[in-house]
Amino acid sequence: MNRYERYRRALLDYPKPLAFLDLDSLTTNKDRILHAAGSKKVRIVSKSIRCVPLIRHLLATDDRFEGVMCYTVSEALFLSRQGLDDLLVAYPAWERTSLTDVGKEVLRGKKLTLMVDDEEHIARLEEVGQGIGVVFPVCLDMDLSVSWPGLHFGVRRSPIRSQKRLIDVVKGIEKSPSVKLEGIMGYEAQVAGVGDQVPGRPLTNRLMRLLKGHSIRRIAQQRGEWIRELKELGLSLRFVNGGGTGSLKVTSQEDVITEVAAGSGFFSSVLFDHYRDFQGEPAAGFALEITRRPTPGIVTCLGGGYPASGASGSDRLPTPWLPEGAKLLPLEGAGEVQTPVQYEGSFALGLGDPIFFRHAKAGEMCERFTEILVIKGDQVVDRHPTYRGEGKCFL
Ligand SMILES: Cc1ncc(COP(=O)(O)O)c(C=O)c1O
Repeated sequence: MNRYERYRRALLDYPKPLAFLDLDSLTTNKDRILHAAGSKKVRIVSKSIRCVPLIRHLLATDDRFEGVMCYTVSEALFLSRQGLDDLLVAYPAWERTSLTDVGKEVLRGKKLTLMVDDEEHIARLEEVGQGIGVVFPVCLDMDLSVSWPGLHFGVRRSPIRSQKRLIDVVKGIEKSPSVKLEGIMGYEAQVAGVGDQVPGRPLTNRLMRLLKGHSIRRIAQQRGEWIRELKELGLSLRFVNGGGTGSLKVTSQEDVITEVAAGSGFFSSVLFDHYRDFQGEPAAGFALEITRRPTPGIVTCLGGGYPASGASGSDRLPTPWLPEGAKLLPLEGAGEVQTPVQYEGSFALGLGDPIFFRHAKAGEMCERFTEILVIKGDQVVDRHPTYRGEGKCFL
């Protein structure tokens, strides 16, 4: 039975729109992530999953999955209260009440680590920490972007762009009794989050590979030197985190790295289709129902306007996945309440039939659905609430 028929049969009696996950494909992706990570531990990037039972499931499949990379303090607290531990909040937080709540959770013995990259972050934590008598475990985010005149290759996040700056901030932490440095993180977004095998773009792909190759060498050297310097200063770090789905293979080869981060590869959303270094299997999608037939060759579905974040462009739109050959109309895209789809293939699509789509990004799909139906073969074997389904909207 082909994939369209299989999913159609599994989801026949479930009201649409709905989100679903193919369990066998998830398992394949999980194995590929572990393989690409070599001998390193893998921290699961929760923003690319946003479903507690799935995060739990993945953590339980292999000892090398260790800890979660969270995207907000509220999310980390939510996961901690559900029994998860070793939660690294990957982006700095400022709001006092949430920092206080993290402090209380740390006092209960939970391993929650906050991100810092600025003396003001440290001063803020010191003040909150003194107020409640806690020592905040923190991680420093080092910038790994590469700049040439007129071209910045990487993200604009951390201002820690030199070894001197890193050492200054570390010294600031050492002078703060309520803050303890436990880890270093560096995210090479220009390697991990940029496709280099995009069909129909041979020149851009070549350029990307050149830039990525250069970045990879520079990053390995920078990270190696900086971490060794910290060790020479007598610091012992619990972890050095780097990478993401698109860079697992190269990041895991660096000696100083103790763990790599991965999230998007589990669902393998569309933006991760075109990486030389990681090939996942599409594992997650959403089903829309055909409710209209405006003209031969076009069917219109209810729902579907779920674009992804980032620099806007057609690559942020959902992609019709199955049946193969289904396409969005360039002038309508995926609409607020309806999405027309062009299809001239062999299935005789009628009212009530599903069209299966994939989201451009992995976890963002879950912001549109309260549950994910888990399919094995041609059957739904589980239903898991997403963060939204648990009443949570963290960002
Ligand atoms: C700090 C950090 N690490 C790692 C990742 C990689 O996540 P994924 O594997 O989901 O692409 C991201 C993604 O944006 C990130 O911000």
